[in-house]
Amino acid sequence: MKILSPVNFKNLSLRNRLVWLPMVSWLADEEGFVTDELISRHRLRAEGGVGLIILEATGVLDRKSPKLLRINEDKYMPGMEKLVQSVHDAGAKISIQLIHYVKQSRSGWKQKVEDLSIEDINKVKDDFVQAAVRAKKVGFDSIELHVAHSYTLSSFVSLLNKRQDQYGRSPQGRALIVTDIIEMCREKLGDEYCIGARISGEEFVSGGNTLKQTKAISRIMAEKGLDYLSVSAGGKTEDGAWYSGYSGTRSMPTANLPYGCHIYLSKGIREELEPLGVPVIASGKINSLELGEEMLNQGKADLIGVCRPLLADPQWIVKQMENRKNEIVNCIYCNTCLERDQRWEPVECIVAEKKSKK
Ligand SMILES: Cc1cc2nc3c(=O)[nH]c(=O)nc-3n(C[C@H](O)[C@H](O)[C@H](O)COP(=O)(O)O)c2cc1C
Repeated sequence: MKILSPVNFKNLSLRNRLVWLPMVSWLADEEGFVTDELISRHRLRAEGGVGLIILEATGVLDRKSPKLLRINEDKYMPGMEKLVQSVHDAGAKISIQLIHYVKQSRSGWKQKVEDLSIEDINKVKDDFVQAAVRAKKVGFDSIELHVAHSYTLSSFVSLLNKRQDQYGRSPQGRALIVTDIIEMCREKLGDEYCIGARISGEEFVSGGNTLKQTKAISRIMAEKGLDYLSVSAGGKTEDGAWYSGYSGTRSMPTANLPYGCHIYLSKGIREELEPLGVPVIASGKINSLELGEEMLNQGKADLIGVCRPLLADPQWIVKQMENRKNEIVNCIYCNTCLERDQRWEPVECIVAEKKSKK
C-alpha cells in the first residue's frame, strides 16, 4: 500500500505517510512543562506505527495559559528533548505545532488583529522565530506554524481581517506576517530544515475564507519556502464560543458528517501546490487505511492525517496492518474528547475508557 510506503521531503524521511495530527491534551503541567504522561502518550502512538507525529499546539508567547504546552523560554527545552528522543526511539519523526493566540476573555471578548500595532506584530514574529530555534535545538524534525482555526496567524490570513495597512487588503497583505515568519525562520534554521504550516481549507463562517482564498494564501506561503501544508477546516469563533458553532463542528467533524468530509479541501489545495512540490496533509474523519490509500491514489493528498482514531486506539495502524480490525477501539466521533478539552480536563477517549473497564 502506498500509505505504508516511506516518503522523504527536506530533512524528513518518514517510514510511512500516516500522521498523528496535533491534539491539545492538557497533559502539560500548570506552567506548560512536558510531563511523563505526555511523553508516554506520544511514545505509544510512535510504537503504534505512525510515520510523523505533530505535537499539539505549543505556546510561543509569554502569556499564561495553564497546562498548555509551552516553548517560549529555554527552561522548557530539557522536557521537550526527552519527548523528542522517546518518539525517535520508537521510529517516528516529530514536528511541533507553534501557536500564538490573541488576548481573549471567557465572556467571549477577543482582541482583533486590527488592534495590533506594528510593534505587537514584530513581537509575534519574534516569538515564533525564537520558539522555532529552540524546537530545532531540542531535536524536532520540523516546525509547524499554526495558521488554522481562530488564532493569531489564522486571523491575519482570513478575509475577516480588515486591516488597511500592509498586513491586510490583499491575499499578499493578509499573508505577510506568515511569509515574514517563514523567511525569518528559514534564515535561522537553514535551507534543509522542514518548515510546515496548518491552515483551515475553508473557514465555514460568514465573510471568512473559502477554498478560493485559502488556495491563494497557500500558494503565497509555498512560494516563500514552506515545506508542507496541513489542511484543517473551520475553527473560527465568530459564530459561537470555542469550537461550538458550525465552524467549530467542521474543525472536529461530528458524527453526522460523512467520512473524509474534507477531502475536497486537500484536493483543491494540492492542485495548487503540487507544481511547487509542496506536500499536503489531509484530515477530517479519515477512518481507515483504505480511505487514506484511496485519497493518495487519486491525488487528493500526499500524507494522511488522523487525530481522534489514534486517541481512541494507539494501535489503530498496526491492528489494520495485521488484519486485527475487530480488535480496534473505534472512534465514534462523539467529541467527548473535545468537551473535555473545553473544560481544560485531560483529553482522553471515553470509548477507550469504557472498553478498558469491561
Ligand atoms: C480535543 C482536540 C484537540 C485538538 N487540538 C488541536 C491542536 O492543538 N491543533 C490543531 O491544529 N488541531 C487540533 N485539533 C484538530 C485535529 O488535529 C483534527 O484536525 C481534527 O480532530 C479532525 O481529524 P480527525 O477526524 O481525524 O479527528 C484538535 C482536535 C480535538 C478533538
